[in-house]
Amino acid sequence: RVPTVGIDIGGTKVMAGVVDADGTVLERVRTETPDKSKSPKVVEDTIAELVLDLSDRHDVHAVGIGAAGWVDADRSKVLFAPHLAWRNEPLRDALTSRLAVPVMVDNDANTAAWAEWRFGAGRGQDQLVMITLGTGIGGAILEGGRVKRGQYGVAGEFGHMQVVPGGHRCPCGNRGCWEQYSSGNALVREARELAAADSPVAHHTLERVSGQISEITGPMITELAREGDAMCVELLQDIGHWLGVGIANLAAALDPSCFVIGGGVSEADDLLIGPARDAFRRQLTGRGYRPEARIVRAQLGTDAGMVGAADLARLVARRFRRAN
Ligand code: BGC
Ligand code: NA
Ligand code: ZN
Repeated sequence: RVPTVGIDIGGTKVMAGVVDADGTVLERVRTETPDKSKSPKVVEDTIAELVLDLSDRHDVHAVGIGAAGWVDADRSKVLFAPHLAWRNEPLRDALTSRLAVPVMVDNDANTAAWAEWRFGAGRGQDQLVMITLGTGIGGAILEGGRVKRGQYGVAGEFGHMQVVPGGHRCPCGNRGCWEQYSSGNALVREARELAAADSPVAHHTLERVSGQISEITGPMITELAREGDAMCVELLQDIGHWLGVGIANLAAALDPSCFVIGGGVSEADDLLIGPARDAFRRQLTGRGYRPEARIVRAQLGTDAGMVGAADLARLVARRFRRAN
């Protein structure tokens, strides 16, 4: 029954929280993700500091990590991370020896999917696909309440499916990856490009940052779109359109009942999901002759990855106690 700590390590933010057995967040802290150029050790230090800080006020028995990278089938190493410095990083063992409690490591979108299935928009869904739009696109496939991992642990890397031959370069090394067209990074890149071209449609946004193009952020674009700024509404429509196209492809491959959309960009809600639904319906193969999956927004919002990591850590700790 004791609370556990969940940590979501994304491309820009690290969120840590103490979460109880029914998914309630008792306390949360957040900090910036150490720069990609820093060694993996610095990310470890950040995690350890957050856990120590929370341990001051809570009895921490297990720690779960949702990491923005490719976690191996044993859930011990991060094989690769397009937006972080991890390459074959033995994250679980390194943290277990530092934190002296059981540590669970999984992919961030996998932990988010788990949280939505347990406590959120995915409850009762036997065939669920999760898509998180943050720095990149995270993906997870949940069948009968089990994360499908593939043979090597890295199933669900939807963000790196090619959607535009010869398209934008992706940090994974390829071109035209889905996450280059539908993510927080894509949103910001497009807004900054329009601002840099001094496009008249960007004037309102430029005013907001007093001409400092590098200060344009994803949350800012969503806020401006909500206020009715035409450029920002359009940019979210574009991101939403690409989201729907990708979802139609995933429906062709996986045929789930429900797609749950999470991550920071999903805060834009209908400004994003509306265009995504339109593109999905327009693009779905066999449309009109097949049942259509629902597209819903994550109920736990940007907490999902953290809450899921904490909940999975609880399961790991229980197994650990039984075995010892
Ligand atoms: C990574 C995934 C991660 C996602 C969201 C992608 O670029 O390849 O492993 O889940 O970003 O953070
Ligand atoms: Na995943
Ligand atoms: Zn890629």
